[in-house]
Amino acid sequence: MKKDQSFWQKLKKPIYALAPMAGITDSAFRQICKEFGSHITYSEMASVAALVHSPKKTLEMLYSTKKESPYIVQLFGNDPKYFVKAIKLLTDKKQIANLGISNYCLPDGIDINLGCPVPKIVKQGAGSVLMQNLKLAREIIKNVINSTNLPISIKLRSKSGKISALTFLDNTRDLDIKAVMIHGRTKTQGFAGRVNYNIIKKSRNYFSGIILANGGVINKETGDKLLQKTNADGLGIARGALGRPWIFQELISQSPKSINISKIIIKHAKLLEKLKGKHGIIEMRKHLCWYVRGLPCARKLRAQLVRVKTIEDINAILELA
Ligand SMILES: Cc1cc2nc3c(=O)[nH]c(=O)nc-3n(C[C@H](O)[C@H](O)[C@H](O)COP(=O)(O)O)c2cc1C
Repeated sequence: MKKDQSFWQKLKKPIYALAPMAGITDSAFRQICKEFGSHITYSEMASVAALVHSPKKTLEMLYSTKKESPYIVQLFGNDPKYFVKAIKLLTDKKQIANLGISNYCLPDGIDINLGCPVPKIVKQGAGSVLMQNLKLAREIIKNVINSTNLPISIKLRSKSGKISALTFLDNTRDLDIKAVMIHGRTKTQGFAGRVNYNIIKKSRNYFSGIILANGGVINKETGDKLLQKTNADGLGIARGALGRPWIFQELISQSPKSINISKIIIKHAKLLEKLKGKHGIIEMRKHLCWYVRGLPCARKLRAQLVRVKTIEDINAILELA
C-alpha cells in the first residue's frame, strides 16, 4: 500500500516529540505540549483487543483535535489479526460515526508498542516481550503496514531479554517503517538508570528512517546531550514534560518566552474538563502536583490541590499561593 509519508518527511530536525504515556498523554495534555512547540504527539497506548471488543470506549480515549497533529496513535497487543481490525476501525470515519462519536480526527500515523515492561502488558505477550519475539513482531509490523496507508512507526527498548534494538531493526530492515523511537534503557532497567547512547547511535547502521532517542531528557542540557551523543533525528520526551510542558519551548528556542504557570494550569484544567467533564478535574489533580513541584510552598499546595473538584477550587488555591 502506498504510504502517506508527508508528515515524517516534512518535519524540521531536530524533531521533538511528546512520547506516549498511559493515563497522561490525552488530548488535553497533547494540546498543551503542542502549544509549546512539540512537533509530534503520541497517544496513550491503546489495546488492539480493546479497540475490537469495546470500540466506543477506546476510541473516546483516543479522541484528538486537529491542534495535536501530527498525532500518532500507539497500539499494543500480540495478535496480527487484531492489529489489522483495530486499524481498520481507527481509520473508518463512517464506522466511528455509527458508534455515535462525532468530531473524530483521523490519526496521522500508527505506532506499535514494543517497549512497555509493565506486567499487565507483558503478560499478554505485548510491549517489551513482543520485542523478544522477532518472528511475531515482524508479522505484526508487516500486517499493519499492509493494512493502511498511514505511516507506521515503532517504539523499542535498547534491549529486551537477549534481543537488542540493533538485532530487532536488522530483522525488519526490509519493512517500510518510517520512524523508530528508542528508549535507551533495557526492559530490566525499567524507567531508571543509565541511557545507552551507543546503541541508539549504532541503530543508524540498521535503519534508514527517522530515529528518535528517548530517555532522561528533563531540560535543554540533557536534551542537547542525548542528541549529540546519539546523532538521532530527534528526541522523545516523556516525564520531562510532566508539569513542565514548556520543556519543548526550552529545547527549541534560544530565547524561550517567560512562563505564567497559573495561566497554563487553568488552560490545561479547562481542556481536561471539556474533554472528560467533572472527572477531568479529578484527573487534573496529578498534573497539579507536577506543576507545583519545586515551588517553595509545594508541600502545602499539594495537600490542597489533591482535593480540588472544580476549576474555581484550583483558581482559589493559585490566587492565594
Ligand atoms: C506514566 C508513564 C506511562 C507510560 N506509558 C507509555 C505508553 O503508553 N507507551 C509507551 O511506549 N511508553 C510509555 N511510557 C514510556 C515513555 O514513553 C518513555 O519511553 C520513558 O518514560 C522514558 O522516557 P523519559 O525518561 O523521557 O520519561 C510511559 C512512561 C511513564 C512514566
